[in-house]
Amino acid sequence: MDSENTTTEKNWKHSLLYLIFIISILHLTNQTNFSRKLILGNETVRIKKNPELPLRFRSDGTFKILQVADMHYGNGITRCRDVLASEFEFCSDLNTTQFLKRVIEKESPDFLAFTGDNIFGSSSPDAAESMFKAFGPAMESGLPWAAILGNHDQESTLNREELMTLISLMDYSVSQINPSADSLTDSATGRMISKIDGFGNYNLRVYGAPGSMLANNSVLNLFFLDSGDRVVYQGIRTYGWIKDSQLQWLRHVSRELQVTH
Ligand SMILES: *[C@@H]1O[C@H](CO)[C@@H](O)[C@H](O)[C@H]1NC(C)=O
Ligand SMILES: *[C@@H]1O[C@H](CO)[C@@H](O)[C@H](O)[C@H]1NC(C)=O
Ligand SMILES: *[C@@H]1O[C@H](CO)[C@@H](O)[C@H](O)[C@H]1NC(C)=O
Repeated sequence: MDSENTTTEKNWKHSLLYLIFIISILHLTNQTNFSRKLILGNETVRIKKNPELPLRFRSDGTFKILQVADMHYGNGITRCRDVLASEFEFCSDLNTTQFLKRVIEKESPDFLAFTGDNIFGSSSPDAAESMFKAFGPAMESGLPWAAILGNHDQESTLNREELMTLISLMDYSVSQINPSADSLTDSATGRMISKIDGFGNYNLRVYGAPGSMLANNSVLNLFFLDSGDRVVYQGIRTYGWIKDSQLQWLRHVSRELQVTH
């Protein structure tokens, strides 16, 4: 009887040790980069990396934004402007990423804002691939960045909604597709607004410097609005514009933040 009990106890202890071992391994794996990987079927899926939030002014009271527009990233068709004649032949939109990397390194911004025509749709056979390349330096920098679209971004394989979805899922991107239209009414008709026009309308709050009186307040509000694609208006081919639903949303958020923050 005694020896049987001891064996049971030994087995039990072994099982317990084994369990602790498994739990420790799981815990360790969780602490390392493995936690960034998710297995779906046979595919390894990477999880989006996020920047440290909220956005904040530095202790010296500055917040440096690098704004980049019209990268027109494509497949090398677009020639560089304002370069030396000797450089012209070997300079295209493909050099943009190198340039962007250098600017980010030299300027050390706190935030990057890409304000449209990030890619040149008609010379991008694959919109997603061009987007990943165009925003590559931003993703590699680990800095928070946001983007909206111009009229050329959707001229390739993805529409505006798909593009903003893709951009919002990229590493360190704080871009959003659209905020909720909850409690928005049209000032002209008095009716509730069910949908905000466009894709890529959102605001980002920048908080005061760490440890300062304004550390818990948003002191700068960055509004991003989708000014749309090309449209045919009354028979004339022209550009889109910011719609009333977007302005209603902007006014609403702005008023709300003035009261509460
Ligand atoms: C996973 O890979 C195995 C072996 O290659 C294959 O038989 C199976 O169909 C794959 N499963 C999925 C969900 O792709
Ligand atoms: C553009 O990139 C090419 C290939 O890397 C390089 O040879 C060329 O010097 C670059 N041009 C400029 C103006 O930076
Ligand atoms: C901001 O919030 C933190 C955490 O709640 C608190 O410790 C700190 O005192 C607050 N700072 C100010 C200036 O209110």
